[in-house]
Amino acid sequence: MIGFGTADDQNEEPAWQTLPVELADRSYPIVIGTQIFAEVGEIFAQACPEAGHVVVMTDENLEETLGYKLCESLAENDLSIDLLVIPAGEASKCVELYGSLLEQMADLGADRKTVMIALGGGVIGDLAGFVAASYTRGIPFVQIPTSLLAQVDSSVGGKVGINLPQAKNMVGAFWQPKAVIIDTEVLNSLPEREYRAGLAEVVKYGVILDEEFFAYLESHLDEIQQREAHVLQHIIRRSCELKADVVREDERETTGLRAILNYGHTFGHAFERLADYEDLVHGEAVSIGMILASRYAERRGMIDAEVTKRQYQLLAAIGLPTKPPSFDPSAILKVMQKDKKNELGSLRLILPTRLGHVELVKDVAQEDLLNFLEEMAARST
Ligand SMILES: NC(=O)c1ccc[n+]([C@@H]2O[C@H](COP(=O)([O-])OP(=O)(O)OC[C@H]3O[C@@H](n4cnc5c(N)ncnc54)[C@H](O)[C@@H]3O)[C@@H](O)[C@H]2O)c1
Ligand SMILES: [Zn+2]
Repeated sequence: MIGFGTADDQNEEPAWQTLPVELADRSYPIVIGTQIFAEVGEIFAQACPEAGHVVVMTDENLEETLGYKLCESLAENDLSIDLLVIPAGEASKCVELYGSLLEQMADLGADRKTVMIALGGGVIGDLAGFVAASYTRGIPFVQIPTSLLAQVDSSVGGKVGINLPQAKNMVGAFWQPKAVIIDTEVLNSLPEREYRAGLAEVVKYGVILDEEFFAYLESHLDEIQQREAHVLQHIIRRSCELKADVVREDERETTGLRAILNYGHTFGHAFERLADYEDLVHGEAVSIGMILASRYAERRGMIDAEVTKRQYQLLAAIGLPTKPPSFDPSAILKVMQKDKKNELGSLRLILPTRLGHVELVKDVAQEDLLNFLEEMAARST
């Protein structure tokens, strides 16, 4: 493991902290700091000491701000640097752009030693990661996530990929980065709605794995709203730690443990789909989905109402929606049945048993779920 953050001999506090992700020969560090962009070149040199050629992929919203800054910092390392800029937004995670990016890599003379750096939100991480996983059967890859969602979720775990018109994230690979470099400072320019959407995943980690962390979020709301650096570092670090623990136990989604990360997502995806991914951003759908899953757990006698209430209050205080928009229960059920996480037509849901713990429930009767959705639909009008 690389000794990031162990700093120099002068007893200086390192400007960043390091979280090791232990995955045998695919282990890597997550480096977390504030205002460390100028030092990214140095961190990169430790992660990829043999790099000679680097391709930085970013989107058009970030090119002139973070893109140029990153290239400047990397340039100190005597690297040859190319910047690939793609349109912002989910539509870029498509087969056509993926194909064109592979060709651009070839035109740039990229080879197996070229390092791909993904600078951006989850869209860039997934797309650049999939180019890295497949170009010449795989090149080294570094993630510099810039949205909160990417910092606490998509950059950790090694899943990369693109969408098909038929379904999201249908084509991809498991491809672990050499390092993930997180600077909380970049979040200052993130639009409020995107910031809140990332917080939905943060709340999720508290509910599924760590009650104490959930309570920390409840008691640091002001600092969270103000994007205070120390609090951000803590919540990003704890979120990455919790996700990395799950990934370490189930790197390739074979044991089923990784499924707990889908808490709120089976309901959430259904609403996201029916809203055509337009009126609801992912984190908003997950927020609604968590409340529905929690209410459903109440109905099954797994938890008491207080567990739902605390989630409801925290999500609402953050400014996330907690009630579904008016909907057709059977349409939602239909989409839930199609969710690719369901095996052999049976419906499975991740449901809380208390704050900090969830279970995979495999015997969800469709009839009962439909009744529940009808009740919820009646409440939401
Ligand atoms: N691989 C995984 O495990 C995993 C997990 C969760 C989500 N995802 C994927 O992540 C994607 C969503 O990621 P996202 O929410 O980051 O979306 P995104 O990448 O589209 O970023 C959201 C928007 O914020 C802008 N942005 C990003 N950082 C910014 C900054 N610092 N300042 C100003 N603007 C900034 C982007 O340009 C974009 O317009 C989805 O495609 C989803 O499938 C993947
Ligand atoms: Zn999610």
